[in-house]
Formats: sequence, structure tokens, C-alpha cells
Amino acid sequence: MDANRRAVFLVSCLRWLVVASGMAVAGEHVQVWQIGAVALLTLAYNGAVSWCALREERFSKYGKNLSTVAGILDIAVITFLVGRTPSFYSPAVALYWFVLVTTGYTGGSVRRLALVTSFSVMASAAMGFLAMRTSASSAEILTTILLRSAIITCGALVAAFISTTRKNDDVASERYSYLHAIRSCGAKLTTFRSVHEMVLHVLEVVVTKTRTAGAQLLLLDEESLQLQCEGAFVPENDGCGATQGAQNVGPDESAIRSYAEWVVKSRREFLMRVGGANSGEHSQITDDRSVVAVPLTWQSSGTDDDVSVQGVLVVWGYTGQDISEDALHIVRIFAAMSAAAIVNMRLYTNMQKSFLRTLQSLAKGLEARDEYTQGHSERVMQVSCMLARELDCNPETVELLRNASLLHDIGKIGVPDAILRKPGKLTSEEWETMRRHPLVSEEICRPLGLSDEILFLVKHHHERLDGKGYPDGLDASEQPLLQRILVVADAFDAMRSRRPYRDIMPIEDLRAELNRSAGRAMDPTVVSSLLGLMENGETDAIYEEHDRSTGFLVCEITAEDERKAA
Ligand SMILES: [Fe+2]
Ligand SMILES: [Fe+2]
Repeated sequence: MDANRRAVFLVSCLRWLVVASGMAVAGEHVQVWQIGAVALLTLAYNGAVSWCALREERFSKYGKNLSTVAGILDIAVITFLVGRTPSFYSPAVALYWFVLVTTGYTGGSVRRLALVTSFSVMASAAMGFLAMRTSASSAEILTTILLRSAIITCGALVAAFISTTRKNDDVASERYSYLHAIRSCGAKLTTFRSVHEMVLHVLEVVVTKTRTAGAQLLLLDEESLQLQCEGAFVPENDGCGATQGAQNVGPDESAIRSYAEWVVKSRREFLMRVGGANSGEHSQITDDRSVVAVPLTWQSSGTDDDVSVQGVLVVWGYTGQDISEDALHIVRIFAAMSAAAIVNMRLYTNMQKSFLRTLQSLAKGLEARDEYTQGHSERVMQVSCMLARELDCNPETVELLRNASLLHDIGKIGVPDAILRKPGKLTSEEWETMRRHPLVSEEICRPLGLSDEILFLVKHHHERLDGKGYPDGLDASEQPLLQRILVVADAFDAMRSRRPYRDIMPIEDLRAELNRSAGRAMDPTVVSSLLGLMENGETDAIYEEHDRSTGFLVCEITAEDERKAA
């Protein structure tokens, strides 16, 4: 809840105190039914004001009018109480101060303050005259009216002072909050791993800080040059736990696209005020929301010809609420920051992809030196991605697994051929060298700026579920699903392929080995998925080429033929 709404809510809660004070002052002059009527009236209009102040969209639509009505009803209730206490020094007059001070506290304009003061003076004078005309002289009545008017005018001066101070404070604190948002968001922009994540963060900050109803960011596709929605943000609640109502639905998609296309074409900002007056060529629009669409421009050199539009940031306000000038400045600043961050991120991503491809080619080349390991990473990648999809992993995590699988054994570059291709048993020193390859793989991949998840997978692809794996002997609780999948896929390929120290394992032995390892070295759920895939023949396509080159299919057919012959 922002400061203005909080002030209106507070005032609507405090009115009970004023009514109670008025009743205490009026004392025996007020009858029970009158107390009841005043209480009910106060309950009704203060309930309406509080309800309105709880939601930003309601407040921007009805808040101003309801506050004016509440102010008029305050004056009516206080005037009634003043009328019930006809004494010369009626303290009930002081209650007019409440109306004046609260008008100033809730940010009332000079015009509104002058109106409230005039109504209060006139109502107080009329009540004084009516109540004292039969029992007091003209001089006494005039003195009373003048005294009460002076008291009310003093209240108006105090209210004007409060109003000015609050407005200055509000502007200062709002601008400080904008500066803080720019600084913290600017520092955070470089930490995002994807443009989408960054866009969602920027949209949330822009909408929250400018207190607007929603925003969308559209990016120009580098190849098709079409605008595509990269992210949208509409607040789910306004800080009071209230859910979003239908009234906060933004402009329809076609309208947003039309504004954005105009911005890309003209390279200018589009601004539409409540009612439809706009800076573009949309003369037919009569929208009761304010919309601003700002181009995300990028200048690659010092000349204006090199300015390119990367996308468009579209922000819309609540119904009947114009976007303030300060908020427009913030939207422009965030559009400029986002454009620079998006360009840098795209450059970095392209560079990273290129490095990744180079490294993967290197891993492939390394395996190609050896007929036993040729194509190992590629097959592990295919099996692990198949398993991940089978186990309902989302596409992003499958992509992580894909990259990790292709790079997991690159550290074998540090293992001498004499060890890698040794047909017999490894000595303890040789085994020690071999066990270091996951660590070397991670060391090679780290400077690439790959995610921690990928580095973890690369480093821990030889861990075991029972904690007896290497390099860290991780406990089962420290092994996430993706890593368990990679372990199973890696071990499966090792068993399914011919190695220098053994021939291809027959399929039945392989199944038995997998079942034996489930729950000990490997995750039983992943193993069970793999056995299912094997049963359906889904892993066969991956090994067709390998089996052809190693004569595995021939071996199997021969065995089958032998069985048939028997
Ligand atoms: Fe390995
Ligand atoms: Fe491997």
C-alpha cells in the first residue's frame, strides 16, 4: 500500500474517534436514536473509503470522489454535533480541525482545502446563528461566529502546512525509491543467465515502482525481425493480500502489438493518456487506461545512423489513472538499461555457445582417438536426455544434462593413452590418475561461465548412490536427479560398449548388472526407466552405428540363431 492510500485508510479508521469525542462533548443534548443514526452513517461512508483504499485499482477509480464525499459527510456530522451544543464556547467546533487536517494529510490540493474551509465556516456560522438567535444578543452571536471562523481558519493554515510538507516528503521519498530501484536493478542486470529471466525482473521492478497496472516487453527477433513477447508482468496483489480483479486486465494483445509496431517503425515513444489522446497515429482509440510504449534502442557507434531498435517496453496504468511524469522517466531509464543489458547478454550467449561447441568438438576428437570410447559422450548424451524426458524433467533441465553429458569426460585429456587403452587391470597409481578426470573436466569447463548445475554434473558423474563413488563420495541426499541420470547413462554406455579390458556385455548380463546396481551404485527409479526403454527397444537406435562397427549385432544374431538351432 502506498503512502497516499495508507493515509486515506488511516483517516477512515480514525473517524470513529472523532465521532466518539463529538458525542462526549454533546453529552445529554444528543438522543440515543441520533447517536445510532450518526454511528450508522459514519460506518457506511468510512467502510466505503476503507474498502476503496485497500486496492490500487479501486482507489485510482473511486478514491478521489469517495474522499470528497467523506469530507462533506464529516462536515455534516460535526455541524450536527455543533448544533446540539449551543453554548458560546462549544468545544465541538474544534472537530472541524479534524476535517481540515486530514484533508491536508491525505494530500488535498489548495482548491480542495479552500472549499473544505469555506463549507466549515459557513456551516459553523449557520449553526451558531440558529442555535443562539433566541437566547443571545446580536453582538454575542457575531462574536461567536467570528471566533469559531477564526478557529477554523487556523485549522486551514495548519492543514496547508501539513499538505505542503507531505507532498515534498512524498516526492522526495518516491524519487529516492526510483534511484534505489535503478541502482539495485542496474547492479543485478549482469547476474542473469537468460534474457527472459532478466526481462521478468525488469518488468516487475518497473510495475512495482511506478505503481502501474502491468507491463510487457517485446523483443525484435534477430532473424525474422518480428516482435515477440519476451515477458509480461501484472501484479497478483497490491500488497494487501487481495487477488487481482478483472478490472486490472491490461490492453488486449493486438492493441499492445499495434503500439509496439508503431514504436519500432517510427523509432519514437508512444504515449496515450486516459481517454485516448496519444502521440501516435491511433486516433480511433478511446481507452480509459494510460499506456506508454518506449523503444529499446542500442547505439553501436557514435553516429545516429547506428541506432537500432531491439524491442519495446509497454507499460499501462490502472483504469482512470494517468501515468505520472516521474513514472514515465523511470520507464524510459529502464528501457535504456534493458536494451544495453540485452545486447550484451546476446553477445555473451553467442560467444558462450561458440566456446561450448568448440569444447564439445574437442571432447569428440579426444574420443575419436580411441576406437573403444569413440562416440561415448554423444551416446551418453542421447541416453541421458531420453531418460530425463522419460522422468518428466522440464526442457531447461534436459538442456543442462545435454551439455554436461557432452563434456563430462573431457578431463580424460589429462589421462595418458597408456592408462586409457590399457587392456589389463590398472595399478593403484594409474587408477588414481584415472579418478582425477571428473575434477579435470570441471576445471576445463569452469572458465566457460557454465552454470553451477552443469559443473556439478560434470564433476560428479562417477558418484555412487551408496556414497562409495568419486571424487567426493557424495551421500545419496546430495545427489540430485539429473546427476543420478547421468551416472546411469554413463555406466550403461560403458557396459553396452566394447572396452580394452573386456568384450561387449551380453544384453541379459547387462540387465542383470543394472538390476544388481540399482539401489547400490545407481538410482533404482532411473534404472527402472532405463530397463523400460531397453525393453521397448528405444535405446537400440542410439547403438545401431556402434554395434555395426563392433559387430555386436552379428554376435547377437548368431546367439539367437544358435538358440533356434538348438
Ligand atoms: Fe568419466
Ligand atoms: Fe563417461
